[in-house]
Amino acid sequence: MQRMAHEKTYVMLKPGVLQRRLVGEIIGRLEHKGLQVIGLKMMQIPEELARKHYAEHDGKPFFGDLIGYITSGPVVAMVVAGEDAISRVRLLAGATKVEQAQPGTIRGDFAAVTTKNIIHASDSPESAEREIGLFFGADQVVPWEDPNADWTV
Ligand code: PPS
Repeated sequence: MQRMAHEKTYVMLKPGVLQRRLVGEIIGRLEHKGLQVIGLKMMQIPEELARKHYAEHDGKPFFGDLIGYITSGPVVAMVVAGEDAISRVRLLAGATKVEQAQPGTIRGDFAAVTTKNIIHASDSPESAEREIGLFFGADQVVPWEDPNADWTV
């Protein structure tokens, strides 16, 4: 059997998710898969932090739209933990380009244009560590014992 890794990942519900009353629906999908929310807060992202978060995309044609969108309203920032959490959350989120996002995924079900693809999830352990560090202080991440672990993993 292939071994799984216990991981933490940074997940962000982008602007529009609160307005569309989709917060519970999307967090529910992560929880129903057995993932643990260990950090959670709402925030309005300052432009400087948005630029740091998306620094690797600076210079790409969509960079201005990306920064404009992510700073256009409050986001829900999360640290999510679990076995293979990084790839599992990205699978649940669906493809970045919404025309490739399968029905049943978060983007496939709720996003109509890539520019407003409603959820961000770290793409590697290095990105997860960097992004969690950008958005959460050490005292804002609260790991907890999972009494249901035998039933979910
Ligand atoms: S790429 O094309 O490989 O550089 O981009 P990718 O890694 O897939 O996506 C990087 C982030 O940019 C967002 N993105 C876009 N925003 C606005 N418009 C367009 N056309 C666009 N294409 C990609 C994409 O959603 C990624 O952000 P996150 O927050 O990770 O979803």
